[in-house]
Amino acid sequence: ERTQVGIIGAGPAGLLLSHLLALAGVESVVVELRSREHCEQRQRAGLLEHGTVATLRAAGLAGRLDAQSVEHGGIYLQYAGERHHLDFRDLVDRTVTIYAQTEIVKDLIAARLAAGQRLDFSVSATAVSDLDGPRPVLRYVDASGAARAIACDVIAGCDGFHGISRAAVPDVVAYERVYPFSWLGIIADVAPSTDELIYAHHPDGFALHSIRTPHVSRLYLQVPADDAIEAWSDERIWENLQRRFALPGWTLREGPVREKAITPMRSFVSSPMRHGRLFLAGDAAHIVPPTGAKGLNLAVSDVALLAPALIAWLRDGDPSLADAYPAAALRRVWRATHFSWWMTRMLHPLPGDPFTTQLQLAQLRYVTTSRPAATTLAENYTGVAPA
Ligand code: FAD
Ligand code: DHB
Repeated sequence: ERTQVGIIGAGPAGLLLSHLLALAGVESVVVELRSREHCEQRQRAGLLEHGTVATLRAAGLAGRLDAQSVEHGGIYLQYAGERHHLDFRDLVDRTVTIYAQTEIVKDLIAARLAAGQRLDFSVSATAVSDLDGPRPVLRYVDASGAARAIACDVIAGCDGFHGISRAAVPDVVAYERVYPFSWLGIIADVAPSTDELIYAHHPDGFALHSIRTPHVSRLYLQVPADDAIEAWSDERIWENLQRRFALPGWTLREGPVREKAITPMRSFVSSPMRHGRLFLAGDAAHIVPPTGAKGLNLAVSDVALLAPALIAWLRDGDPSLADAYPAAALRRVWRATHFSWWMTRMLHPLPGDPFTTQLQLAQLRYVTTSRPAATTLAENYTGVAPA
């Protein structure tokens, strides 16, 4: 078997890459470990930068997004019993958009299948070889149990943090920071109690009120890194959310908890993002802690660089953008890695470390009272900061 680009992973990175390549007449095969249903239901991110929306719109993928998403012109930062609004429109003339990753993945899968794309779900034993020669090979066992080998011009490793691609890059250097806390995230069937996201610093820990739809709320709590989800009854979760968001004259509405899970917090960057004819994109190459919502946006910005680079090389014979890809992508990755680390460090109190708590409060006071400090946050949050 033969294709131009073998793509491992049907997350946002792999699916969008396949779509952008097809628009330019470059063919690809996408192979995915999990089932289509699993990919479409997995609850993850929900906040899109302006540039992410622009990329999806330019690719003709924004039909449902334009109808169902909600634009946000700022966020609330809450600390010391005060809630302050940061106005991104005023500060940097930009907004962000709420539209769930699950919906983006559904839109991408539907668009690829409508175009007759080969998307192999539920595969196993994915492996890559011959990366240094002109015909790298993508091997896997398909859903029917048949072993397959596809000779490619290029392989794109879009297989997330637990994929196999990153390990195929020899002499990879990994930069890593593991944080001593996790996020417990819930999806609740209740109308959001806020018009824009609330990031709350509280002595008991951080909390975030996000939004999915007018009828569905997404809420997060900082919990100890080793906590098990079984330790968190719905009642205990709401009790903690009520305490951390409490503000006189404001009420947090409660509703049935549809999903709950604990996500560890990690910063991770592996370099280089290319070896021979293997290119990495998205979580396969880097992870950020969720504070500031950069993970999905970085996956899309990697692909927005990688797709034109592969098109120029495979269709037009010009390898210069492909050669420039690892350095160009890593510049953005490190900017977002710094911002996510900075937001995380500002908002999560550490038990038994009152000095850090006072620094966090001083920084929050600065960001909510100084226009230059607020502008720094707004630029990075909305994605206008130069990489
Ligand atoms: P993924 O979406 O992980 O896609 C990779 C795909 O590759 C998966 O479908 C996987 O099944 C497949 N795969 C893996 N191994 C193989 C293999 N060997 N063979 C074939 N296929 C394989 N970001 C935010 O901005 N805000 C959030 O609130 C947020 N919450 C998150 C919560 C969780 C639990 C997780 C895990 C991530 C969260 N993120 C969040 C990060 C964001 O979802 C990711 O950055 C985004 O999904 C990256 O897209 P991707 O396509 O690179 O990787
Ligand atoms: C969401 C997640 C984040 O980490 C964040 O900073 C904002 C929003 C979300 O899932 O909606």
